[in-house]
Amino acid sequence: MKKIAVYPGSFDPITNGHIDIIERGLRIFDELVVLVAYNPNKASLFTVQERMDLIHEVLKESVHDWERVRVDSFAGLLVDYARNTGAGVILRGLRAVSDFEYEFQMALINRRLNRDVETVFLMTGYKWFYTSSNLIKEAASLGGSVRGLVPDLIHRKLQEKFAKK
Ligand code: PNS
Repeated sequence: MKKIAVYPGSFDPITNGHIDIIERGLRIFDELVVLVAYNPNKASLFTVQERMDLIHEVLKESVHDWERVRVDSFAGLLVDYARNTGAGVILRGLRAVSDFEYEFQMALINRRLNRDVETVFLMTGYKWFYTSSNLIKEAASLGGSVRGLVPDLIHRKLQEKFAKK
C-alpha cells in the first residue's frame, strides 16, 4: 500500500519553508498531495490557479523527486479530501512555538471530524523558522527584498504583483 500524505495550506505563495517540508515529507511518504486549500480567515494575493501553477513550476525547478508530488486544490473540508484521496495522513510543517497552538487546534478538530486521518508534523529547517507567506508578502509589498526566502520565480511574481497595485 502506498503511503499518501496530503500537505495542505494556503501557499499564497509557496516559500522555501514549504519546499523544505515537501522534501522532508518525500523521505517518509510515497506520494504527497500539495493541496491549495481554502482558509476562510485569509484574503489571498494570488488566485488558486496562480498558486497551483507556481507550485508546479517551483517543484519542477527545485524538488528532485517532484514526480511523486501532485498538486490540487479544494474548497471543502480537508478531512473529506483526505478520505476521498485515500490519504491517511495530513502533513503540516511546524516552525516556531507560535505555530503550536493553531496547529494543535486544527489537528484536534480534524481528528474529531475523522478519526482515521492522522496529522503528522515535521519541523522545518531552522533557516525558515521565522518566515511565513504573510510576512514575506508584507515585506515585498513595502519594497523589501525577500530574495532567499522564496524561489527566484516567486520573488519575480511578487514584484510583478505589487508593481501593478
Ligand atoms: O497555510 P494555512 O493558511 O495555515 O493553511 C490552513 C488550511 C488551509 C490548511 C486550513 O485552513 C484548512 O484546512 N482549510 C480547509 C477547511 C478545513 O478543513 N478546516 C479545518 C477544519 S474546520
